[in-house]
Amino acid sequence: MPEVRRRRSIPVPMDRVAPILALFALLAALLVACGPDQGEASPNAAAAVPAPLTGRELFAANCATCHGAEGEGQPNWHIANDDGTLPAPPLNGDGHTWHHADGLLYRIVSQGGAQFESPSDPSFKSAMPAFEDRLSHEEIIAVLTYVKSLWGNKVRMDFSIRESQALFSERDPFPPQSP
Ligand code: HEC
Repeated sequence: MPEVRRRRSIPVPMDRVAPILALFALLAALLVACGPDQGEASPNAAAAVPAPLTGRELFAANCATCHGAEGEGQPNWHIANDDGTLPAPPLNGDGHTWHHADGLLYRIVSQGGAQFESPSDPSFKSAMPAFEDRLSHEEIIAVLTYVKSLWGNKVRMDFSIRESQALFSERDPFPPQSP
């Protein structure tokens, strides 16, 4: 009678498996131990300080109601309203915002349009509010940097409007923090 040869499986040396199993057990224990702590605010957590709003968020919160969600402006923005004010113009590069240097854009947002009203020309009234009490210096620059990003690669009369505006801005840049 032939000898029945039993196939043997590949022997697993237990002395090598044991440390690996122990390591898994340790990792599992660590995960369980760390789990419940996640999300609990530690007293020193930086989360207590709100992150600065980005230009896009500042625009959505402060400007979009008048200038449109994408800065497209109000319809017929160059035709005056009955009260003599103009509708809000596009800021996305379709209007003429890019004619204004950084410094002037800053002054428009900071001090509003009323600064351009004059007794000698009562026909001009501005509905552009002043933001100097609502937005910080950095926030005004952040929101205007976002506005400028809306211009993309638009071209007028063969000029990139971003490059043209950058040239104007060399003489009238954003003001430094402490004027
Ligand atoms: C209550 C409506 C209103 C809000 C809110 C508003 N604007 Fe205006 N904005 C206007 C109007 C209207 C003008 C048109 C100029 C004028 O009448 O003085 C204008 C003009 C401007 C101009 C000059 C545009 C140009 O082509 O000459 C800039 C830049 C501007 N706004 C930026 C902003 C920014 C940035 C915000 C948000 C921080 C903002 N505006 C919020 C109404 C508004």
